[in-house]
Amino acid sequence: MCGIVGYVGRDTGSTPLDVVMEGLARLEYRGYDSAGVALVTESGIDQRKRAGKLENLRTEIAAHPLAASSTGIGHTRWATHGGPTDENAHPHLGGEDDALALVHNGIIENFHQLKAQLLDTGVSFRSETDTEVAAQLLGREYARTGDLTAAMQSVVARLEGAFTLLAVHRDSPGTIVAARRNSPLVVGVGDGEMFLGSDVAAFIGHTRQAVELEQDQIVTITPEGYSIVGFDGAPGQGKPYAVTWDAAAAEKGGYDTFMEKEIHEQPHAVADTLLGRTDEDGRLVLDDMRVSEDELRAVDRIYVVACGTAAYAGMTAKYAIEHWTRIPVEVSLAHEFRYCDPIVDERTLVVSISQSGETMDTLMAVKHARELGARTLSICNTHGSTIPRESDAVLYTHAGPEIAVASTKAFLAQITACYVLGLYLAQLRGGTYADDAAQVMQELRGIPEKIEQVLGSMDRVEEIARFMADTRSVLFLGRHVGFPVAMEGALKLKELAYIHAEGFAAGELKHGPIALIDAGQPVFVVVPGPDTPHELHKKVVSNIQEIRARGARTLVIAQDGDTDVEPFADEVIRIPHTSPLLQPLLAVVPLQVFALHLSTAKGLDVDQPRNLAKSVTVE
Ligand code: G6P
Repeated sequence: MCGIVGYVGRDTGSTPLDVVMEGLARLEYRGYDSAGVALVTESGIDQRKRAGKLENLRTEIAAHPLAASSTGIGHTRWATHGGPTDENAHPHLGGEDDALALVHNGIIENFHQLKAQLLDTGVSFRSETDTEVAAQLLGREYARTGDLTAAMQSVVARLEGAFTLLAVHRDSPGTIVAARRNSPLVVGVGDGEMFLGSDVAAFIGHTRQAVELEQDQIVTITPEGYSIVGFDGAPGQGKPYAVTWDAAAAEKGGYDTFMEKEIHEQPHAVADTLLGRTDEDGRLVLDDMRVSEDELRAVDRIYVVACGTAAYAGMTAKYAIEHWTRIPVEVSLAHEFRYCDPIVDERTLVVSISQSGETMDTLMAVKHARELGARTLSICNTHGSTIPRESDAVLYTHAGPEIAVASTKAFLAQITACYVLGLYLAQLRGGTYADDAAQVMQELRGIPEKIEQVLGSMDRVEEIARFMADTRSVLFLGRHVGFPVAMEGALKLKELAYIHAEGFAAGELKHGPIALIDAGQPVFVVVPGPDTPHELHKKVVSNIQEIRARGARTLVIAQDGDTDVEPFADEVIRIPHTSPLLQPLLAVVPLQVFALHLSTAKGLDVDQPRNLAKSVTVE
């Protein structure tokens, strides 16, 4: 997820550089590992870009001012392909004499093939990004057609994945051409000036008149207006609307809090984490891999090390990875790892999971694992952070920056990435489940739509949360992969609403925790689908019966069509059908929404709960 801004104007009193820099400042929450701007000036494209926060770019521009211009584009980056360096920062240049500049949000899945073709024709590259491939292709197409819109049309036809692209050309001053597929883009309409942005925050200081584009559309803006065509060249229309948000709300996409926004970004977080994971032959591919396939084939034990929500993602993954690979997986809280005298050698793969990539406990566990001779693999959301740098291999989640302290979209992206890893190992080692990888990937690709469905039916959950603002304790039960979901549900409630909450394995209830059940005690139960093996569904239904008989108020998360739970549920929260291992990706969503709304009902700060930090860099 990156922030994109574009501006064209004539005699408006605004300068493109100021407008673009202001837009980037408002979009910094979308990405902040590097930033850059490009202007179309009398002498050609003039650009500045710098790794690090926007402040570094400001300093660079102050030291080396840009020439006057009427047209500018800018970008604030959250790295996907290529680390956060000056070279990988956007804009990227293309065409003869670097006549074209382009910024990009998203992931171009087939960039390896396209890059190979360009290299064969003698094109050289300055960065490791997928974006530069688009810039080079567009530069060549412009040289052929002399028309930026037509050039964009022919380039997007060759791209796979998700992308918003904005381009300017030296020979087309006063024009920006943009395209979108599965990635956001809005147009801002001014008087004698036009804007483009990843969202309205990019231009909210200048206009409240916006136009939303549909998927697979190209928009061309000039100071006089805009025109839209489909990727197929058919004339298109956008959807004009007036923005009613203020600047602060605009950064949150109109939501009251970043957490709410991030919960709603989960379909994208999962979809983007899956992008580019298969090669032309349908085989799974990972990101940085500094471990040989032979070493991975030899792995006979996996440790997952992580903290907080990331550890629950690891616990969920244990079920899937063991099932698919038959390799024993142990999940260790990172801060306990060193002290449990772990049985680790060169045939052990230690998988760390961390949103920030900076959690000190997790980092120390990774270092310890390396000292013991293990191979280390990092699942991380932040390019260029310490843990991936210290690891032998990396699989990045593409959830975009997570601003709210309580983790939501990163959790779903982490489970997704762990599953990709499990399938990759299964494929590499052969065996029973190797052939299932394609089928599971296909089901995973359908998950974002199902998350949307869950998010679209949360009214009752919100209502329940509001009614429960005075509740002092909530219990969460689950079995199999529903167990870590129960613990994550409890953690969200503790973090956000400061309520005592516990997650239990439902089977453990009878061994003690059932003594906690009293009249009116609210208990969430995550019910596995009726087709889960080992009659797990039946067993959980009888667990619900047991607690209901003792007066519990049962809040049951069950699959569509599961009527067995109804006689024993005070509330049934429905989720769509999935195969058993994928259910956590849906079942956790109502629990996040519940914690969010209970916290809000108590008047608490959802995004910055007391005593907590987003990234804990002390042991
Ligand atoms: C902190 C945050 C949690 C997060 C944990 C691990 O405790 O408050 O939300 O799950 O760190 O963070 P990481 O960045 O390593 O995933």
